[in-house]
Amino acid sequence: MTASVLTDWDDAKTGTFRKAVTPARHALHEHPAFSDDALAELIDRRPRDMTDICTMGDDPSDQDSWRGGERGNATGAQLMEAVRAGKLWINLRHAMSDDPVYAPLFRQLFDELKAKNPGYAPVRSYGGILISSPKAQVFYHADVSETLLLHVKGRKRFRIYPAERPWLTDRSMEDILHFVAAEDVPYDAAWDADAWTKDMEPGDFVSWPLHAPHRVENIGGLNVSVTVEVVTRDSLMKNAVLHANGALRRMGWTPRSNAVKGPQALAKLAVSRGWKLYRSLRPVTMPRSEVTFDVDVAAETGFRDRAAV
Ligand SMILES: [Fe+2]
Repeated sequence: MTASVLTDWDDAKTGTFRKAVTPARHALHEHPAFSDDALAELIDRRPRDMTDICTMGDDPSDQDSWRGGERGNATGAQLMEAVRAGKLWINLRHAMSDDPVYAPLFRQLFDELKAKNPGYAPVRSYGGILISSPKAQVFYHADVSETLLLHVKGRKRFRIYPAERPWLTDRSMEDILHFVAAEDVPYDAAWDADAWTKDMEPGDFVSWPLHAPHRVENIGGLNVSVTVEVVTRDSLMKNAVLHANGALRRMGWTPRSNAVKGPQALAKLAVSRGWKLYRSLRPVTMPRSEVTFDVDVAAETGFRDRAAV
């Protein structure tokens, strides 16, 4: 791609980037790599263990209805059809950053972000491609990395909430970092009034501050989006302090500060490392990793439940 990925970035966006919700426009939706046929071929190229297939219920507060499934023998094209007609959500993890067709676009996106935002220096970044049904949703959650979304196909209602009490507590992030919770955090429907809300169209970009909770409801058509996780020095330090506070809490202390600067924060880095070493000797499984359905292109929902054992 010789034209820009980001098409309307200006000084105002540089001023708010990573500090506040920053919407912009991009051009990936016009690129042939995002045609239905190209995406079906991408699904066929991706390793199975890098392809997450999920479904979920209709109630935005029923976070526990999120569950995993398996693709079986469905081809990429069949899977695209099952998603278009059913109730599925597919995450092609790292496809945007690893796949030879998409990685050049990913590098160009970061070259442009760095050129337009002086001092922006990601430590690591990963891009996934999400393909989801017209009525799929992603429940209220917070990500551990800084996150960007580039919407490519269909329409989705995106809500982003402040990364502070009551919308998010330090305790919730500590639990996510200690793997005792998935990325879901407690949700109250009344908070929708406090959210930045936008019906995303193809070509819409949005970024938001670290840990800001968000939720997404698809509102039309087969949805395709690129999601980007960015590890920065800021996210590493903030997560180390929260992780250490969670470790201290598990040892019976009540942490009083979540400051990311000063001797206390540096001491917490050591606590966090020590706790990770201790836990690595006692591995924990992530919640809800169980597979409960198989893709079935003939089913109305696009999947068939496994019999309970
Ligand atoms: Fe997210």
